[in-house]
Formats: sequence, C-alpha cells, structure tokens
Amino acid sequence: MLRKISVAPMMDCTDRHDRFFLRLISKNVMLYTEMVATKAAIHGDRDKILSFSLEEKPLALQVGGSDKKELSEVAKIAEDMGYDEININLGCPSKKVQQNMFGACLMKEPDLVSDCIDSMVNSCNIPVTAKTRIGFDDTEDFDYLNNFIFKMKMAGCNTFILHARKAMLKGLSPKQNLNIPKLNYEMVYNIKKKNPDLEIIINGGITNTEEIKKHLKLCDGVMIGRAIYQNPYFLVDVEKEIFGTKKTPTRESIAEKLIEYLEKEVKLGTKVNHVMRHTVGLYHGQAGSKKWKRYLSDNMMARDSDFQKSKHIMTIAQNNEKANQKIHD
Ligand SMILES: Cc1cc2nc3c(=O)[nH]c(=O)nc-3n(C[C@H](O)[C@H](O)[C@H](O)COP(=O)(O)O)c2cc1C
Repeated sequence: MLRKISVAPMMDCTDRHDRFFLRLISKNVMLYTEMVATKAAIHGDRDKILSFSLEEKPLALQVGGSDKKELSEVAKIAEDMGYDEININLGCPSKKVQQNMFGACLMKEPDLVSDCIDSMVNSCNIPVTAKTRIGFDDTEDFDYLNNFIFKMKMAGCNTFILHARKAMLKGLSPKQNLNIPKLNYEMVYNIKKKNPDLEIIINGGITNTEEIKKHLKLCDGVMIGRAIYQNPYFLVDVEKEIFGTKKTPTRESIAEKLIEYLEKEVKLGTKVNHVMRHTVGLYHGQAGSKKWKRYLSDNMMARDSDFQKSKHIMTIAQNNEKANQKIHD
C-alpha cells in the first residue's frame, strides 16, 4: 500500500534535496513536498518551486489555498508534472497561513473545503487527499470531525491524514502547536472504525517501530515528521521491520551516493549547504555523531561552502562506520 508509511510535509525541511536524501535510505515510504501556496505554484518560478527528480517518487505535492479555481489549476499542474498525489493542507495553524485563508482555519469552513476538493477532483486524475487536525480551539468533537470528513468524502476525497492533536488558532505559536495540544489517537482510531471504507493515516508524535506497528492495527497508514528529520536513518528500521526489506544501505553508502548527487547539483548551481543541512542527523545516536555534525557545521553549512571539502566527509563516514562496527561486534 502506497501510504503505509509516509514522511510528513515540513516547511524548510522536506525540499527536493532532503527528499532525494531520504529516498537513498528508504524506497518504500511515500514522500510529501513542503506546503506550496496556490499562487506561488501558479505564478512563481515553477521550475524552482515544483520540480523534482524521478528518484523521489512516489511523491505528493502539498498545497495551501482556499480558492477553488486556483486549487483546481494546481491539481492539474501537479498531475502534468508527474506528482502521484495532491494533498490539501487543512492543519497548519500559523497566523500568516490563517491570514491567507488556508491551513487549519479551514476546519471552520466544511462547505468551502468540500467545494475546493470537488473542483480539484474534477480537474485531475491523481488522488486528492487532505491533511488535517482532529479539531481546533475549543472544538475537539468526534461528530464535528466526522461530518467534516464526510463532506470531503462526498466531494471525492478518500484519504485523510489526521494529525492527532487539535490546532490552537489563537495564543500558540506554530511550534507550540506541535507539542502543547494533547495527542488524542483514540479520535483517529474512532474515525477509522466509523469509516472503514476511507484510508485513514495517523500522524503526530510517533517515534519508533513498535508504535508504528500498534497504529497500523487500527489505521491504514502512519505519517512521521520530526522523528525522521532528526534521525533519518530511522527509515532503515522502518524498511526492515515494517516493509521486511532484507538489504538496507549503510550510512557510509548513503554518504557516498549523496556526495555523487552533491557534485552533480553543485555543477548546476546548487549551494553545498542547501543539500548538506538535511544530513546533520545521519549519525544520530551513533559513534562519530559529534564529529559528523561538527565537520558539517565548520565546513559545509556556511553559505559559501566549497564542494572540495565534501571529499573529506567520506573519510569521516568510513571512520564512523568502522567505529560503529566495533561497538556492535
Ligand atoms: C518544521 C516543520 C514544518 C512543518 N511544515 C508543515 C507543512 O508544510 N505542511 C503540513 O501539513 N504540516 C507541516 N508540519 C507538521 C507536520 O507535517 C506534522 O503534522 C507534525 O510535525 C506532527 O508529526 P510529527 O510529530 O511526526 O513530527 C510541519 C512540522 C514541522 C516540525
């Protein structure tokens, strides 16, 4: 199943370089772009904002907007560009996003949202999916959420990613909104129970494969954000334990492929730090983690970092690999 495990859309994190890096680690997870506003997708530099490499697939474009004409245009663009899914953001609580009328504030507008979904579904042949919260402000109510989902279902959406905590639209920053409202997984399980025909993906605070396995008994899929960004090699556990993959890459082989990618990208004008900043957590919890982080921050994270320095990084990767092998022997 395509969305059994997915990596969450994360602004400033899941750009095309990060997705390429994650794909070196896992072939089976579904990947999502950062949220792209409809106006940026339509009027902006499309090559810069929306292009991706085929290696990243399966890949969903996440869009933010509430103008049905614009959303249907972006759905068509996504399909034409080869994305596998278009996902509407109904969960972001930031003030700026609210001012533009997208994200979690749209949970207050079920009819508008279902109109938007209807026009997206009618303009493309890829799946239209929704990522939302379980509630907002004082509203954390099963019937409200179920009705919201029902309206979207009637408009043609069959896949829902539910971040299992409500959004506080006033009084909390976006960062606080990722931690303070309490997780309520039961609400998500109950939505799945009530709607067995829908694909329900659970998200929020999931950090290891034991938790993933529990959720998969009660939902169709699990989406993980921060735990993967901070520790991307967690995806190897996911590959082994959830997908049964026998042959998984070593950190050293990932670093090697990444340097090849970096060399190509630098020739095309990409800055070294734009790629390497996503790899800080590659040795998370391992021998050599500090060395890796220090080398990256001293040599490869500055704006004008030089590709030549990346050659040395392979020595660190090889030494780390040996050190970790010794620990496990
Ligand atoms: C840095 C960052 C950026 C995020 N950007 C987006 C975004 O663009 N679109 C979105 O739907 N959610 C966004 N989120 C929320 C995540 O997709 C996810 O729902 C949230 O982090 C909870 O999952 P987790 O506990 O596994 O991290 C972001 C979260 C973080 C930490």
